[in-house]
Amino acid sequence: MSEGLSTRHGWPSLRTRLPIPAAVLDLGCGCGVPVASSLADAGHQVTGVDISDVQIERARRLVPAGAFIRADAAQVDFPPASFDAVVCLYALIHLPLDDQPGLLRRVVTWLRPGGWLLATTGYRAWTGTEDNWLGGPAAMWWSHADAGTYRSWLSEAGLDITPRSSSRRAQAGTRCSGRSGRAGPAATATSAPGG
Ligand SMILES: C[S@@+](CC[C@H](N)C(=O)[O-])C[C@H]1O[C@@H](n2cnc3c(N)ncnc32)[C@H](O)[C@@H]1O
Repeated sequence: MSEGLSTRHGWPSLRTRLPIPAAVLDLGCGCGVPVASSLADAGHQVTGVDISDVQIERARRLVPAGAFIRADAAQVDFPPASFDAVVCLYALIHLPLDDQPGLLRRVVTWLRPGGWLLATTGYRAWTGTEDNWLGGPAAMWWSHADAGTYRSWLSEAGLDITPRSSSRRAQAGTRCSGRSGRAGPAATATSAPGG
């Protein structure tokens, strides 16, 4: 477990809830470090998805135990009940806003009963570009709704948020309501800084 994941991404709230090994989908996995690598180090079976060829190539090299797919998260699909958990950290907020509620609904279908979603969401609604992101020459584009809208979308997708912290970057445990009389998936969400 890298310190980066344990301190930055709300991982502690999810870690103790997973069976070992768990099948975990890392949506918007980037180069696979620290999220996919930490999950693999913890004994989980990780599938990573990212839209960037370069990031997928890096992830395959840096996390040889993982399976990585280059795909748009807004388009990718998996069979029902494929995963014990889906993590989507600092990635959902880079998708067009219109694609996000549908993606959350699809994620729920990929979760097994009792599964979890850990996602970074928006805190304040904002869509726009920041030039010279992190001091580099590139601009970064974001699109996110406010925290209340994400709570509604998670709820409508079949997930209940319990409990929730008031911190901007805090974790919010999310419990999915039962479906078809079964124990449903569950999730935890983190709020990204608003624009
Ligand atoms: C800020 S990075 C986060 C990486 C990793 N989740 C983490 O927490 O370290 C955002 C990642 O989302 C990916 N991404 C952006 N839009 C995407 C999309 N539509 N489908 C899949 N990945 C996407 C980017 O390529 C980038 O690797």
